[in-house]
Amino acid sequence: MPARRPRGLFFTCEGIDGCGKTTQLNLLARYLRRLRLPFLLTREPGGTELGERIRKILLSGASTGMEPRTELLLMFASRAEHVARVIRPALEAGRVVLCDRFTDASLAYQGYGRGLDLAFIRQLHLFACQGLKPHLTFVLDINPRTSLRRARRRNTTARREEGRFERETLAFYRRVRRGYRALARLEPRRVKLIRGEDSPAVVHQKVVAHARRLLARLTRQVPR
Ligand code: TYD
Repeated sequence: MPARRPRGLFFTCEGIDGCGKTTQLNLLARYLRRLRLPFLLTREPGGTELGERIRKILLSGASTGMEPRTELLLMFASRAEHVARVIRPALEAGRVVLCDRFTDASLAYQGYGRGLDLAFIRQLHLFACQGLKPHLTFVLDINPRTSLRRARRRNTTARREEGRFERETLAFYRRVRRGYRALARLEPRRVKLIRGEDSPAVVHQKVVAHARRLLARLTRQVPR
């Protein structure tokens, strides 16, 4: 049964590891706070108690060599929980949901990156999320050499536990990037490709330029 259309707005941010999406989501959150718009900042895999436990399994170095199919199903197990318990209720309450990765990440990483069937991943999305789609998706498009340098630097310091994906090859990240670009070509109204090499301030301006029109639905004053 297709779910009814919620009142809030659903924005997601995507890109290869180290592309700067977490910084951008924090800047967008600050912007929404200034507008006094109620919002929720969340992430995948994760976003619920169960989802965060699944995240640990997925990102831990101890899971090296996990079957791609297992990886895909765990991503969607986390997502089904997240959509039902967190994202949909927040949208129904009229909030802006900012989500760090969503189904596009499964298409890009497990589909284009690992070579799993894209049509099947879309079916899984229909089943797990009942077709819930973001209103807007920002893809920070960046050269994998640059972004991996950033991501690996970060993981040797703060987040050693979460490094499994960052050990992937450059060739893998090139496929993932190509995947995101293909998704942007397929759905140009929803998926916005933004140059990730630019400064955080410049990227933020572009993000806001895309989001303003939709945000104007929720509030009358939407500054630049
Ligand atoms: P993320 O928390 O965004 O990591 P980072 O902040 O370091 O970029 O995502 C963790 C990893 O999980 C990332 O390498 C991408 C991967 N991932 C998938 O492969 N498929 C998915 O569906 C999702 C949501 C994430």
